[in-house]
Amino acid sequence: MTNILAPSILAADIMRLGEQIEAVHKAGAEYLHIDVMDGVFVPSLSYGVCVVESIRKSCDMVLDVHLMIVEPDRYVEAFARAGADIITVHLEACDDVRDTLELIHSHGCRAGLSIKPKTPVEDIEKYLDQIDLLLIMSVEPGFGGQKYFPESTQRIAQARELIDRQDHPIDLEVDGGITLENVREVLLAGANVIVSGSTVFHGSEADMAALMKSLRECER
Ligand code: DX5
Ligand code: ZN
Repeated sequence: MTNILAPSILAADIMRLGEQIEAVHKAGAEYLHIDVMDGVFVPSLSYGVCVVESIRKSCDMVLDVHLMIVEPDRYVEAFARAGADIITVHLEACDDVRDTLELIHSHGCRAGLSIKPKTPVEDIEKYLDQIDLLLIMSVEPGFGGQKYFPESTQRIAQARELIDRQDHPIDLEVDGGITLENVREVLLAGANVIVSGSTVFHGSEADMAALMKSLRECER
């Protein structure tokens, strides 16, 4: 299975967004991770549908939209129409998880389900048959540049075991505090999609190359 890098544009320089997206794509990133925050589910506000729409017009990467919002059902259609490829919602934010996942699929997108660090991994087990991506948060969602919670590694391994028992492919994505120092640990625990904000956009070209090298070297 090939490992995938999903740079989070939360850490990008908004005035140079276009050129920065082009640079990460050229360097080998396949997904572009877009963090949508509503100031309710998480304290921060970020951006919404029109940002996805505008990126879609000039970018052919897989747009991986991470909804950190309450009542995600209200926005699924709009993000799908804007050009999202993957729409990930939080288990903690859904009234009826199955309905929400079905809604995402009905609009032609891949469905992702995410859990915060304190939500037990086993809580997602009953939804695995319906998802294309599981997103394990390795920091409390809401801000970029935080420190990776070490206990995430065990949670990733537990999620990998559950995923491997399914008979359809599910991406195992990890988000928050991933650096050049811990990326191998995260991959070896079983993740195959690495979200990275600060390491990609605040680092050098050499850092980006080193990150891609780790991804290639840890392929299963
Ligand atoms: C946090 C976001 C992350 C964040 C990752 O709530 O979901 O995607 O941008 O940024 P880093 O890599 O800096 O932790
Ligand atoms: Zn995210």
